Amino acid sequence: MYRLIPYLKTYRVPLFWGLLCVGISDVFMVISPWILKLGVDWMESGVTSRRIAMIASALVGIALVGGVFRYLMRWTVIGVSRRIELDLRNNLYRHLTTLPQNFYNYTRTGDIMARSTSDLDQVRMVLGPGVMYPVDTTISILFSVTMMLYISPMLTLYVLMIGPLASASAYFLGQQIFKHTLRIQEQYSTLNDFIQENISGVRIVRSFLAEGFHESEFDGLNREYLQRNMDMVRVQSMFMPLLFTLFSLGAALILWAGGRSIILGDLSLGDFVAFVGYLGILTWPMIALGWVVNLYQRGAASMARINRILDAPPEDYSFEGKHQDGKVQGDIEFVNVSFKYPGTDRWVLRDINLTIPRGGTLAVVGKTGSGKTTLISLLSRLWDVTEGEIRVGGIPVQDYPLEDLRQAMGFVPQDPLLFSMRIGKNIAVGRPGADDDDIQKAAEIAGINPEIQEFPKGYQTPVGERGITLSGGQKQRTALARAILRQPEILILDDALSSVDTQTEEVVLDGLRKVMQHRTTLMVAHRISTIQGADHIIVLDEGSIIEQGTHEELIASGGLYAELHQKQQLREALEEME
Ligand SMILES: Nc1ncnc2c1ncn2[C@@H]1O[C@H](COP(=O)(O)OP(=O)(O)OP(=O)(O)O)[C@@H](O)[C@H]1O
Ligand SMILES: [Mg+2]
Repeated sequence: MYRLIPYLKTYRVPLFWGLLCVGISDVFMVISPWILKLGVDWMESGVTSRRIAMIASALVGIALVGGVFRYLMRWTVIGVSRRIELDLRNNLYRHLTTLPQNFYNYTRTGDIMARSTSDLDQVRMVLGPGVMYPVDTTISILFSVTMMLYISPMLTLYVLMIGPLASASAYFLGQQIFKHTLRIQEQYSTLNDFIQENISGVRIVRSFLAEGFHESEFDGLNREYLQRNMDMVRVQSMFMPLLFTLFSLGAALILWAGGRSIILGDLSLGDFVAFVGYLGILTWPMIALGWVVNLYQRGAASMARINRILDAPPEDYSFEGKHQDGKVQGDIEFVNVSFKYPGTDRWVLRDINLTIPRGGTLAVVGKTGSGKTTLISLLSRLWDVTEGEIRVGGIPVQDYPLEDLRQAMGFVPQDPLLFSMRIGKNIAVGRPGADDDDIQKAAEIAGINPEIQEFPKGYQTPVGERGITLSGGQKQRTALARAILRQPEILILDDALSSVDTQTEEVVLDGLRKVMQHRTTLMVAHRISTIQGADHIIVLDEGSIIEQGTHEELIASGGLYAELHQKQQLREALEEME
């Protein structure tokens, strides 16, 4: 919670005014029972109707002024809490964007969503009501109890017996309610996850005819949600009756004790009326006291959950090694590289030794799961090697500032993700601020320009749910255009043209070769035709290089590569015959 102090400090001026309004409105609230007392006392000693009217209008005036300050108080204090919520959420988001790959490997998305929404809400409650009510409660309790003691110490004693009971029950019921709220929220995010996954995977669900199965599973989750809500309603329903009972008990006590004092002449009727007035003022603060304690407990728990994100160390973008102003360029070397994913004990890559001369092209083939994607992810330090070293231009990749390293690379992932924004902007992700000409040129090289021109709004056509849906091959080429736009020193293609037909692929590769002169290319592919022009080809199997050489050399040696080649040629021949 101490983390919130700097945020509060930023808004100390509006907070000060807000809390001042709390005090002023409380003063006005405390005056009114006293005026009522004057009125009643005057009535007993005979009074003109003019005087009564005066008292009545004074009461209205006081209520009005007090009300205005109450309004100002809520407006400022709650407003501050909303603004801090905004700052906090911005910081949380910014931090999330800096966290390393591994963090997302072990954290559920639904969990992050919950922390940045409902947990943040709990924290905001501490900052708004949690700041306002303690001040309000303390001031009004102090004022009212003083006045009550002045009127009748004995009656006050009775009140002080019942009051804490009200606070305590508000506190305990509040805790129960919170426990149920947590259970409800948990189920809510399970429901959300389920819906999200099934909507985005709706094609799979349909094609496997799994709708019925998923429907009954959803029904189960939904019923559990209802059940948890019903548990909550049961507890909540007890709240008001319990408090009412307590207050009736208090009222009965005071009527009995106060009535006797009036009969004995110790207390005037006006005093009694004022006393009941103060009791009324005291009611809410007594409840608020228990409630605020709850707010703090929950806020602290939520803040701890948020802190777990804020405390996760960000990826280190700072300059670590000696190589500050050098460009990331030169030969790429893998020296005895072995790799396990953090938290697992299987070697995914074993003893990889490789050299790719600057400007050269390396192709990686291998069965699915053999470690191709992993191998190329190590170069941009999405993961760090477990053993060995990767160098660019003779310098270990860790010695480059991470930003420079990634700046030098254009990466086309295996299953590219397009954002729901205009297609032109989607390409510009590669280089924010690129002008339309450059975007179009990149699209041209990636072989997607003619198709984009035919979209209803050309480059302005939105992609995704509210726009056009791209085919697999179109997506891949859009992602390629993104990487080309960067004009990277090193281009990395992870099976980037797998959904494109062979003819289109040839055209794209031709175009690429021109752009990629003097730049290094790493490409993963399943189709031999894609890679036969590469300078060097490696064949991965279970994380080790089992064959390497040029296309001709590998064919001549008659290993796995040659076998793969033969099969693919056979298949092509068959396809042509059909
Ligand atoms: N984030 C991860 N955490 C743990 N293990 C992983 C992770 N990603 C991949 N693996 C494992 O590492 C191995 C190699 O995966 P990789 O994605 O590199 O294969 P690949 O050769 O690219 O396969 P494909 O041709 O299907 O794309 C696999 O056994 C996979 O299960
Ligand atoms: Mg892969």
